[in-house]
Amino acid sequence: MQLDVTSLSAGYGRMTILHDLNFAAKPGEITCLLGPNGAGKSTLMKALAGQLAVTAGDITLDGRSVVGLGPLQIGKLGVGYVPQEHNVFTELSVQDNLRASSLAFRGGEGRIEEVYKRFTILKDRSRQMASTLSGGERQTLAIATALLAAPKILLLDEPTAGLAPIFIDRIVKWIGELAFDGMGVVWVVEQNPEHILSSSTMTFVMEAGRIREVLESKRLLEPGRLEAAML
Ligand SMILES: Nc1ncnc2c1ncn2[C@@H]1O[C@H](COP(=O)(O)OP(=O)(O)OP(=O)(O)O)[C@@H](O)[C@H]1O
Ligand SMILES: [Mg+2]
Repeated sequence: MQLDVTSLSAGYGRMTILHDLNFAAKPGEITCLLGPNGAGKSTLMKALAGQLAVTAGDITLDGRSVVGLGPLQIGKLGVGYVPQEHNVFTELSVQDNLRASSLAFRGGEGRIEEVYKRFTILKDRSRQMASTLSGGERQTLAIATALLAAPKILLLDEPTAGLAPIFIDRIVKWIGELAFDGMGVVWVVEQNPEHILSSSTMTFVMEAGRIREVLESKRLLEPGRLEAAML
């Protein structure tokens, strides 16, 4: 699903954080978003997921405006969202987190076995309360639950922050396969983003609520480029 953002302004209450912002993510591609702390990356993701009031501009999915729709309606249109924080039901077990997300979507239950196969750590802890998972385990669960919904576009806010390399590799591989099959992905990159930049097509660099630069992701792998973009 094609996502387009044109001249978007949005924020919290009367405080505007995003200013006249343009952004796009194509189906079958991993589009990265990066920038320093406080640049507005998570705010943009919240706006895309329908969690913020848009004060100007437009957000479209395959050309259809979704401004004014709530998170549930946007989710039903095929937008999956893994927030940076509070992204699992802490009072439910791993199994019930997976079940809860799978029930809402056709074929979802069948995918739970696939999740367990890819992430045996979740299978081993299927009865454990999500509140007692380690940071990496919880993050793995959050991504897995979003994928059970078979989204057409997936918004990931620093999904692999704090994860062990083996999980990062598995998640990058899985997301890469889904993108290859046509899913669109927006990935807010974390501190060491080399692993995802090499699978990504375009990167948007944010600064102070605006897009400062749009470039091919592979260019950021050139010496010094990433450091400059994060400043
Ligand atoms: N709920 C909120 N109410 C008011 N201001 C907020 C709220 N959430 C974030 N902000 C402000 O919006 C700005 C952008 O924050 P945001 O979380 O989008 O940044 P970010 O780029 O995701 O940063 P990080 O890399 O630290 O995750 C910051 O100045 C932040 O203080
Ligand atoms: Mg953030």
